Amino acid sequence: MQNNYTYQGALEASERIGWRVEDIIGGEKRLDFTKPFMPESLAQVKRLSFLTAAEQRTLNQIRGHEYLAMFGLVEEFILPYVVDHARSQLSGDDYRVRALLQFAGEEAKHIHLFKRFRQEFEAGFGSKCDFIGPAEDVKRFVLSHSPLGVGISILHIEWMTLRHYIEGVRDNQDLDPQFKSLLKHHWLEESQHTKLDTLIVKAVAADCTSKEIDQAFQEYAEIGAFLDNGIKQQTEFDVESFMNATSRNLSKSEREEMTAAVLKAMRWTYLGTGMTHRDFLTTVEKIKPEARKQIEEMAPAFC
Ligand SMILES: [Fe+2]
Ligand SMILES: [Fe+2]
Repeated sequence: MQNNYTYQGALEASERIGWRVEDIIGGEKRLDFTKPFMPESLAQVKRLSFLTAAEQRTLNQIRGHEYLAMFGLVEEFILPYVVDHARSQLSGDDYRVRALLQFAGEEAKHIHLFKRFRQEFEAGFGSKCDFIGPAEDVKRFVLSHSPLGVGISILHIEWMTLRHYIEGVRDNQDLDPQFKSLLKHHWLEESQHTKLDTLIVKAVAADCTSKEIDQAFQEYAEIGAFLDNGIKQQTEFDVESFMNATSRNLSKSEREEMTAAVLKAMRWTYLGTGMTHRDFLTTVEKIKPEARKQIEEMAPAFC
């Protein structure tokens, strides 16, 4: 299973990359609200032909706010998961201890980064955007599952983050440079997290019985369904935020069309891009080949 991933390699890459939140946002570094924040592959607003270009951009920015809040939310449970895992691995391989603590430190930094961007967004956008939560409840629910079930769910999140940047952002010259910088810096560190979480999942799975492995994949599906429920609720919030921001009264059919488009786009952003990621599926297959088939069968509903 991806034998080229090592704790030492991930730690060295991470130490070379290291950036500070203060270098990325604040002072002169402001969001430019004349530009879109999200790549169209994730925002999917242009298909709403009854919106003007400015309205499409506003909806795109609302999806950007939702992205900031969603990552703030999921990283709230990734951080304690990694800390708990590191706590049980404090002796033995020095590179492993340092790489895991670095991983945790980076997720704490990402929580701070997404929070700072949300503050900048709220200061400049002009109207309020609601978001699901509270994060505490989500964290409690997710962490009530087995270490392997949560680890697989986190692996999905790490790989999907990489895909968002590589496929939609890296070569995109239309986006607000500040928002693009956020996605780039996040990607730089998440690149190590995919490797470290693959090593974590592999180590945890090696100690599991086949019954525990079956249960972990069931939990992955449960956590996904929980997230999908949140996505449905958030879709309503995004549409409400759009109407507040633009003062546009959508007709019943326009509102239905927008709701369906945002739901589809959110499912692709947070579920489909992870479930169909080649490297995620490779790791899943190594643990349980039938689980890969099951995930591939479920995936079209979120793509
Ligand atoms: Fe992160
Ligand atoms: Fe991460």
